[in-house]
Amino acid sequence: MPAVLGADLEVPVKGGRLVGYANLDYAASAPCLEPVSAAVTAALPAYSSVHRGAGYASQLTTARYEQARHTVRAFVGARPDDAVIFTRNTTDATNLLARCLPAGTTTVVFDTEHHASLLPWEKSVRLAPPAFPGEAVRAADAALAGIDGPKLLVVTAASNVTGELWPIAALAHVAHRHGARILVDAAQLVPHRRLNLTALDLDYVAFSGHKLYAPFGAGVLVGRRDWLADGDPYLKGGGAVRSVGDDTEWHDDPEPRHEAGTPNVLGAIALAAACDALTATGWTALVREEERLIARLRSGLASIEGVRELSLWGDDHPRVGIVSFTVAGYSAREVAEVLSGEYGIGVRDGKFCAHPFVRHLLGEADGGCEDGTASAVRASIGIGSTQEHVDRLVEAVRDLVNR
Ligand SMILES: Cc1ncc(COP(=O)(O)O)c(C=O)c1O
Repeated sequence: MPAVLGADLEVPVKGGRLVGYANLDYAASAPCLEPVSAAVTAALPAYSSVHRGAGYASQLTTARYEQARHTVRAFVGARPDDAVIFTRNTTDATNLLARCLPAGTTTVVFDTEHHASLLPWEKSVRLAPPAFPGEAVRAADAALAGIDGPKLLVVTAASNVTGELWPIAALAHVAHRHGARILVDAAQLVPHRRLNLTALDLDYVAFSGHKLYAPFGAGVLVGRRDWLADGDPYLKGGGAVRSVGDDTEWHDDPEPRHEAGTPNVLGAIALAAACDALTATGWTALVREEERLIARLRSGLASIEGVRELSLWGDDHPRVGIVSFTVAGYSAREVAEVLSGEYGIGVRDGKFCAHPFVRHLLGEADGGCEDGTASAVRASIGIGSTQEHVDRLVEAVRDLVNR
C-alpha cells in the first residue's frame, strides 16, 4: 500500500494529551498519498505556464499536464475520443455538463443523490429512493419512457451516505434503450473500486482529486465530446478561443473550450499521480483490505445497543468503505465532538450534502445541514486506515453509550 501523509499526525484530546489521529473521514477528503506529493514536488522546479510558452519549462509542464489527461483517461477506461476536462471538483464537473446540455434536455435524478448531482439541472424529474436496486432500474425506465426530447440520467455509483453501490451498468443500459445518456457521479467510487467507462457503456463520469488522495484542487469530467463541443464555453477567456477579432471564434475541441485561463496544472498532475498509484497498488489488494476493515467496523457498531446503521438496500448489499449511523440519545454532532475531543477520531456528522436522502433514511424533518436533528455520523476509510482506528471508534461509541 502506498503511504499517506499525516499517518503520524498527533492531535490534542481532553486533558491536553496528544494521541495519534484516527482519520475516519476519507469520504469528505482523503489524505494525500506520498507518491502524489512526490509527483507535485518533482513538477515544481520546472513549473511554468501551459500551452503558451516556447520555453523549455513551459513545454515540459505542458507535456506533464497533457500526460495527466491521458493517465486519467486510461484510469477510467474512457474511449479514445472521450473528452477529459479538468475542473475544480465533482460539483464543478456536474455544473459544466449541466451548462452544455442540448436545449430542452430533461434530467432524471434520484432523491438519493449528493447535492452536486441533484441540483445543477434546469429541468429535472426527481425519483423517490428506490426500495431495492431493481426498483431503481424500473423507475428510471418508466421515467425515461415518458420524456420526449434529449434526456440525461444522473446517478451516483457509490452513495456518500451509505457507501452502497448502485447498478450503474443496468441503468446505463436502460438509459440507452430510451435514447438517453447517463452521467455517473463517481466521486465515492473511484477511490475504492476500478471504474471502466467503456465496459459499463457510460456517457460521462465526474470525480474529485481531493477524495482520491490528491488534494490539490482538481477534479474531472470525462465523456462524450459532442454536447461538450456545442455547449457554451464554461469560462470565457484566453485559451478557449481560436481567434478574437470582430467575431470570437471559440475552440470546438471541448478541452480547451472549457479550460479557459491558466489551469490547475499541479492539481491535474496530482490527480494523475493518484490514478497511477492506485493502479500500481492493484484493486484486488485495495478492495480486500477495505472490505476487511469495513466488515469489522460494521459488525462492531452492530454489536452496540442503540446504534443504527443507515442503509437503503440492507446489510448485505455491496458497499465501499463508508458507514453512517445514529446513536440513540445523542445528536450526531454530540457523538462527533466526543469522538474528536476525547478519542482523537475524525468523522463527519450532518446530512452529508444529501438532504433528501438522509431525511428519507431517518424519516425525520429536515433540520438544515448543521442542525442536530435528522443527521447522522459518518465514518469512512481508505488507504492508511488501520484496524486500530476502526477498533478505537467502536470502543469509543460503546463507552459513550454506556455512560
Ligand atoms: C457522491 C458525491 N458527489 C459529489 C460530491 C461533491 O464533491 P466536491 O465537493 O469535490 O465537488 C461529493 C462530496 O462529498 C460526493 O460524495
